[in-house]
Amino acid sequence: MRVIAGTARGTRLAPVPRGVRPTSDRVRESVFNALGQFFEGDVLDLYAGTGSLGIEALSRGCDRAAFVEKDRRALATIRENLQRTKLQDRAEVVAGDVGRVLDRMLTDGRQFNLIFADPPYRIAATEVGGVLSRIGALLAPGGRAVLESGEAPAAGTQGEKGVTRRYGGTYVTILERSEITMIVAVCPGSFDPVTAGHLDIIRRASKIFDHVVIAVGANMRKKPVLPAVERARLIEKVTADIENVSVEFMDGLLVDFARERGAQVIVKGLRAVSDFESEFEQAQLNRTMYPELETVFIMASSEHSFLSSSAVREIASFGGDVRGLVPDGILETVREIYSGSDGNI
Ligand code: PNS
Repeated sequence: MRVIAGTARGTRLAPVPRGVRPTSDRVRESVFNALGQFFEGDVLDLYAGTGSLGIEALSRGCDRAAFVEKDRRALATIRENLQRTKLQDRAEVVAGDVGRVLDRMLTDGRQFNLIFADPPYRIAATEVGGVLSRIGALLAPGGRAVLESGEAPAAGTQGEKGVTRRYGGTYVTILERSEITMIVAVCPGSFDPVTAGHLDIIRRASKIFDHVVIAVGANMRKKPVLPAVERARLIEKVTADIENVSVEFMDGLLVDFARERGAQVIVKGLRAVSDFESEFEQAQLNRTMYPELETVFIMASSEHSFLSSSAVREIASFGGDVRGLVPDGILETVREIYSGSDGNI
């Protein structure tokens, strides 16, 4: 494999380590033909493998490149390739998980003119919300993202336009920033435990937004009975059939969590007037801290309007029947877990 064009043209790249699937010469050439002649600004090469895409962009004139990869052997190959091409001074090699690195870059306010994402697997639906929306948030105005996929158009069709071409078994989609129109909503709560009312709101939100991230957080005014891992596990169980929902922990501010995931909306359920005051206060404070983030309320169904996690905990702690109050799939677990608690309301 050689660099195709630019200052490092013709330089032979290091052998591909075992387990790494490089972008083939044909696909690389076609991608760069499709991108045109002008390369400038910063490039981000995600799931970088051998680094051949980022290196090609640097060789053709991009100013700086960041390569993100977690495989140790692949990281060594990227460094070797940067030395061979004498491009190491303009490169940053970041070892780690793509999702986490993207979070850090978003928090640091980084922007890129060109982003390559060639995941070694089809991006799972639960990761789409994370990765694609974050890519959109990291693209500079006028920037483009190149997504590669071994299956149907990368990352599904949700909120994504762009041009997709097929090269043998590889699909390549090139997107402009404005074409990543995916709307990600964060649905926060303490979920101690998740109730039938929560699940109803989550389902309805999943029909409106491209992706919903459930943020399992801590309400400083309440001490949870169940640890966050357990609360998240219960939510994962009852939302397993909803493709565009993922569950994550939130241990800081909701606005930071949303910004790091490229989310544009906070979605919450509203039961009665009694909820309004506290929700109004939170929405106003969140809006002060992050004006672009919109809070949207979904009205609880009437059968859930008097349902709360604290009521479930109290009923279960006295051995009462919580059927219908929590999703059927976790009925027994909730009974067992909370029957031993003191209700803690
Ligand atoms: O289910 P809950 O207890 O009503 O959820 C409350 C939660 C977790 C959504 C809220 O406490 C929250 O957003 N916590 C994160 C910390 C934060 O951002 N606080 C400022 C909001 S005004």
